[in-house]
Amino acid sequence: MSVIAVMGAGKIGEALLSGLLHGGRRPGDLLFTERHPERAAELTSRYGVEAVEVDEAAKRADVLVVAVKPQDIDPVLVELAPLLGPSSLVVSLCAGLPTALYERRLADGVPVVRVMPNTPMVVGEAMSAISPGRYATAEHLALVEELLACVGKVVRVPESQQDAVTALSGSGPAYFFFLVEAMIDAGILLGLPRAVAEKLIIQSAVGASKMLADTGEHPVTLREAVTSPAGTTINAIRELENHGVRAALIAAIEAARDRSVELGKAHEDQPDKR
Ligand SMILES: NC(=O)c1ccc[n+]([C@@H]2O[C@H](COP(=O)([O-])OP(=O)(O)OC[C@H]3O[C@@H](n4cnc5c(N)ncnc54)[C@H](OP(=O)(O)O)[C@@H]3O)[C@@H](O)[C@H]2O)c1
Repeated sequence: MSVIAVMGAGKIGEALLSGLLHGGRRPGDLLFTERHPERAAELTSRYGVEAVEVDEAAKRADVLVVAVKPQDIDPVLVELAPLLGPSSLVVSLCAGLPTALYERRLADGVPVVRVMPNTPMVVGEAMSAISPGRYATAEHLALVEELLACVGKVVRVPESQQDAVTALSGSGPAYFFFLVEAMIDAGILLGLPRAVAEKLIIQSAVGASKMLADTGEHPVTLREAVTSPAGTTINAIRELENHGVRAALIAAIEAARDRSVELGKAHEDQPDKR
């Protein structure tokens, strides 16, 4: 079984460690790197996983999962560059960072798989999209798929689609939270206590998500089933259309895609291997 090191045990890194343990990996097969000793000690006592320095992680792990913020990638690559060879596998969870960036900065032949996860990973319900870099094989992809299946669902996409994925499912949970927040406000406007409005909307969101996931029905069919002639729902839908909510969502997701492209370009002029 491969040894996996998570570099940067923040929200996503911790969620992955926790998911891998739930999925049956032993604490001894996992490692993590972390800048703050108190945070490292807290994670070790919570999960029984050892915190190590980067060089130790590179020496002992077969798979290095990079889970630092994209803007923190530079020092990580500088540290990893002299330590990794083609027998390692680098898995990048960093939004917007292309596999080509790693390939330019690491030794020739180091395989890289790019992943776009999302925050529901913390409850084991992530949506992750994975793309191979130029040196990643079918076996590498299968291994990454197996690891991420411990924390949710996984799809394979060409790397050219990762900016769209980032805008759709990477940021996606935020759109749903925004919608829930607005609907709770509506409940308050209508005179409901906040706690009641929250309960009504959150459970409606859970129920609707479960129907979408479990029935396999198209969202239009599910919506039509709630939309009776001259009823309440069709009046609400007319207002949503009048206010351009559909167009706003499409424009919002397009803007998120454009920002992802821009963030990827920010690393294009960084120097090659040193
Ligand atoms: N959150 C999301 O919705 C989401 C969705 C999809 C993808 N992602 C990607 O997942 C990655 C992690 O995101 P996150 O939300 O988990 O961020 P986060 O909570 O800030 O976690 C990043 C962690 O990495 C640590 N770190 C930074 N540089 C390090 C280094 N050189 N060595 C060891 N640890 C280091 C940070 O420590 P400090 O506290 O000292 O900074 C922090 O604990 C990002 O690249 C992001 O693009 C996030």
